[in-house]
Amino acid sequence: MTIKKIYEDSILILDFGSQYTQLIARRIRELNVYCKLCTWDVSENQIKQIKPKGIILSGSPESVINLNGIDVQKYIFSLGLPILGICYGMQIMAVQLGGKVESSEIRELGHTQLKIINKCILVDNIHDTINTTGTSFLQVWMSHGDKVTVMPTGFFNVASTQNCPFAIIANEEKNFYGVQFHPEVTHTPQGLSILKRFVFDICGCKTQWKSDNIIKNTIKDIRKIVGNDKVILGLSGGVDSSVAAIILHRAIGKRLICVFVDNGLLRLNEAQQVMNIFSNGFDLNIVHISAQDRFLKLLAGKIDPEIKRKIIGCEFIEIFNETANKLSDVKWLAQGTIYPDIIESAGKDTSKTHLIKSHHNVGGLPNKMQLGLIEPLKELFKDEVHKIGLELGLPCEILYRHPFPGPGLGVRIVGEVKKEYCDLLRAADAIFIEELCKAGLYNKVSQAFAIFLPIRSVGIMGDTRKYDRVVSLRAIETIDFMTAKWAHLPYDFLELVSNRIINEVNGISRVVYDISSKPPATIEWE
Ligand code: XMP
Repeated sequence: MTIKKIYEDSILILDFGSQYTQLIARRIRELNVYCKLCTWDVSENQIKQIKPKGIILSGSPESVINLNGIDVQKYIFSLGLPILGICYGMQIMAVQLGGKVESSEIRELGHTQLKIINKCILVDNIHDTINTTGTSFLQVWMSHGDKVTVMPTGFFNVASTQNCPFAIIANEEKNFYGVQFHPEVTHTPQGLSILKRFVFDICGCKTQWKSDNIIKNTIKDIRKIVGNDKVILGLSGGVDSSVAAIILHRAIGKRLICVFVDNGLLRLNEAQQVMNIFSNGFDLNIVHISAQDRFLKLLAGKIDPEIKRKIIGCEFIEIFNETANKLSDVKWLAQGTIYPDIIESAGKDTSKTHLIKSHHNVGGLPNKMQLGLIEPLKELFKDEVHKIGLELGLPCEILYRHPFPGPGLGVRIVGEVKKEYCDLLRAADAIFIEELCKAGLYNKVSQAFAIFLPIRSVGIMGDTRKYDRVVSLRAIETIDFMTAKWAHLPYDFLELVSNRIINEVNGISRVVYDISSKPPATIEWE
């Protein structure tokens, strides 16, 4: 099988379950080099198809000492490819090649200084400091309990820390390297330089993975797969479906039919905004379905969040199906699936349960429909989708908008969903977001929104006593949305937003601010 130019220079990352594995992949992609992430038990055949120029073994929550069966497939050491083992990846490589790993009395966690004791290509001329005798030091981030105590034959020791005698080991003849620290995290200041050294100087990769190449390649692929057929896409206005829509439109023009469903659970003026940008601005072929009543009718009286989610999800599929059936010649369903969705749902198939992360948006449409599936963004991380979106001319208001859950206000109204509640919440939420933008705070927080609470509270407006609704404001800071800190918004700012909401939204008499972090609280209230 011939490999396309854009994938020719690639690195294979074997995932042993570390929380940092995706970060390794993102770092390599930042270097404009394609990399593929596979679970540790990848087959030789898969590797032959990928044709990587080098392999990185990730860290793991497992311990090499427990003989857990999560190891490097033997053929990997005989492929003649450079290998870089990180943390567990270094330990498992050391053990499998004849070295020894033992448990440390002291778990090394956090910043550590590492001293270079022998010259090695992996770190040659890379350092944070040099002392007067010419010895180089690196600041690195460690997170390990076990450590290598005997190196395998053919390896030499490159660096050590106070607690870890073998912090970097190397077999330069075979191009096998192991680092006990994590070069992929920003706490290791020279981490990217070390990865660069491995990817470019040791593996010999070139930089093919660039936005313009990715766009060209994706458009070519879409045209080849789709031919003269029509494609249907559910456009939500979120980043992924928007970028997918624009790239498909570039490839096949009006043969792309986007379906935008207004479920009545969207933010203020969201439907008009999406239609303006995509239909008027980009000339996309969009079928706009107003289905507010259908959704609200089904949600009446329902208070369980999971039931509400199911109702909203199923009705969306129903409407999407009805629309697709009315259109002639549609052969393909496009989805804005991105690479982390694929990695995370692949994790579900493995027997090692801690490799699993759940994801909200995988599954649903394709099984129900007799259409071929096309996923133009399935190789891309979120930051790459943003870069490509920018290159394709998508406005920042779409690209850098905070994430919005598929079930929309349906899970931001605690308990029963009614149109009246949606309207109140939309108005409060719009004021909060408007003020965040004005104060230059919108891009400083990762997600911000208002929540409608199913209670009433007493207030006084002029001389009149009110018994009205309560909304909570929530703003969080996060990198990956798996954990999050509540944002410390200034009191003056919160006061301004609260005053505006109570004065301007008739029906809301009280505003509270959510100061819960995740875990244990989730980001959404339901
Ligand atoms: P949680 O509430 O799980 O949220 O801490 C993490 C991120 O996921 C979003 N979220 C959803 N997205 N369908 C979605 O498409 C959902 O049902 C859903 N629930 C939560 C949430 O907004 C946050 O960004």
